[in-house]
Amino acid sequence: MQIAVEQGAFLTMLARLMHARRAVEVGTFTGYSAICIARGLADGGRLLCCDVSEEWTAIARRYWMRAGLEDRIELRLAPAIDTLRGLPATPEIDLAFVDADKTGYGAYYDELLPRLRPNGLIVFDNALWGGSVVDSTDPSAVALRALADRVHADPRVDAVLLGVADGLLLARKR
Ligand SMILES: C[S@@+](CC[C@H](N)C(=O)[O-])C[C@H]1O[C@@H](n2cnc3c(N)ncnc32)[C@H](O)[C@@H]1O
Repeated sequence: MQIAVEQGAFLTMLARLMHARRAVEVGTFTGYSAICIARGLADGGRLLCCDVSEEWTAIARRYWMRAGLEDRIELRLAPAIDTLRGLPATPEIDLAFVDADKTGYGAYYDELLPRLRPNGLIVFDNALWGGSVVDSTDPSAVALRALADRVHADPRVDAVLLGVADGLLLARKR
């Protein structure tokens, strides 16, 4: 379930380019993508990680310690939609990475975008869904297709879909 190494390097580069201080991750698993984002944060930066699995994120915590990043990562174990809804409504997030349940992506977009600062970025993984995003009736493919259509038509953002690994959909707030 872990992202590809080139996606990890890309996330680190994005965080550095943006001088990101406030980042949010939806879907943490064993912690690799979080390490990539946290490594790219500016001094004093913080990454909030959302996941529901105590088992997988226990491994994440271990590797964050080894990477010396535990002081800049906060983990919240709860359905991500609840965590996001509980965040301040102010637009202060620089960078968000979404890689959890695909049918939830639309709701995550709705919660993240108002909390993103202008020029902030949301990155969605699995935008290609193995190619099946084009015409599959699988619920995840349908949700990912609907999200891509929504983001591309949304006047609040600039969007680009990159064919890196399983596809990254980027939405930059105008
Ligand atoms: C694809 S994995 C994330 C991989 C991770 N980004 C990485 O690169 O290592 C998806 C994760 O989303 C979590 N997840 C699934 N549904 C969730 C939900 N509703 N709220 C929060 N986390 C969820 C799962 O527990 C799993 O750890």
